[in-house]
Amino acid sequence: MSKNTEELVLQRPEAIVPASDPATASKKSNMELLAERLLEGGFVLIRDEFATGLAILMRLREYVFGSKKSAADDFQSYRSKRNVYRDASNRLLVPVEGNRIALKKAPAIGWLDELYPDMSDFFLAFPQVQGLNSSWQWFLKGVRFPVLKHEIYPWHGTYFPTRFDHLMLFDNWLNQYSGNRAVAMDIGTGCGVLAFMLLDRGFKHVLATDINPNAVMTVRENARHQGLDDRIEARVSNLFDSGIFDGYGRKSDLIVCNPPWLPMDPDRDTNLLDMAIYFEPDFFDRFFSEAGRCLNENGRLVVLFSNLGQSAGMEAVHPVEEELKNNRRFGKVRMLQRKAKAPSKKTRRRDHRKDEVVELWELRFLSAGLPGRRL
Ligand SMILES: C[S@@+](CC[C@H](N)C(=O)[O-])C[C@H]1O[C@@H](n2cnc3c(N)ncnc32)[C@H](O)[C@@H]1O
Repeated sequence: MSKNTEELVLQRPEAIVPASDPATASKKSNMELLAERLLEGGFVLIRDEFATGLAILMRLREYVFGSKKSAADDFQSYRSKRNVYRDASNRLLVPVEGNRIALKKAPAIGWLDELYPDMSDFFLAFPQVQGLNSSWQWFLKGVRFPVLKHEIYPWHGTYFPTRFDHLMLFDNWLNQYSGNRAVAMDIGTGCGVLAFMLLDRGFKHVLATDINPNAVMTVRENARHQGLDDRIEARVSNLFDSGIFDGYGRKSDLIVCNPPWLPMDPDRDTNLLDMAIYFEPDFFDRFFSEAGRCLNENGRLVVLFSNLGQSAGMEAVHPVEEELKNNRRFGKVRMLQRKAKAPSKKTRRRDHRKDEVVELWELRFLSAGLPGRRL
């Protein structure tokens, strides 16, 4: 029987109530003046066509960044321009009426029905509408992974990988895994790709958790679509905090986690999707201090990681190496490595990634750590 019944409060772009009367915009408006108004903190409401919004954003971008990217721009000045652009562009408003974008030649975006069942007429920021549109296209098309026979259809706001090195490593590792395949846990499941691999490779039950309710919705809906929802339970949980692990009644033969790979910048505002990329300062200590109690005696903990932080020149410690060095909670069984495939030529960050190595750490539980430690 499916246990996927806990109600989910899905994340969605916030409907905007403008603090002042918005100026209205159409394709005949003076784009220069509208861009200035956005930069001065005013709101602008598009009235005719979707393309008018694109034209205003183009003007705004030129205004903020200049028509050519300046080589003199250092990282800090680029970042502050990006913040100015982000704030101003989020004051450009799109009218939604009857859960449709009330503009000519606007895309049809199913998320307006799915994510806003409680409201029908409201305003959204133009960049947020662009995000909703692109995630709707991914949802309609589905995402294919080389390690799965079926596509996954991600809900808006759900992380899905676009590079597959960690999936290939996990696939190799699973091929030689000879332990029990009764219960597994996938912590930080995202779109659920690792959880579906586990089911596909013979694990009978998988508990998949994520801090992001939209990710949990993705896993539930895809499991239902695949007829697998009696074998997978998807729940919202901040690591092991929700208590479901105690209530689950069974310990796990395997816990897999592909955590965020970069340390979080404390000055940065983070949204739920950023939580897929950046880990909080206490993430790994909490993870390692709690994972052991969910494992069977011969259970295995598999952590996927990459040296992306170090190869990007950040002062990042390696959390798995740190754990093994400083604590006696887990012991290393093996570590598999794979040189990361070079990112596409279009990616600005490719230089940081040329030395990137993706790792799979197989660990076994030794002990609960120091007496008195929270478990
Ligand atoms: C790098 S993604 C991995 C997704 C997927 N497992 C994969 O391999 O592609 C990390 C995931 O961990 C989730 N996450 C981040 N912090 C978390 C936390 N404290 N508790 C649970 N999940 C968390 C993110 O929302 C994200 O979905």
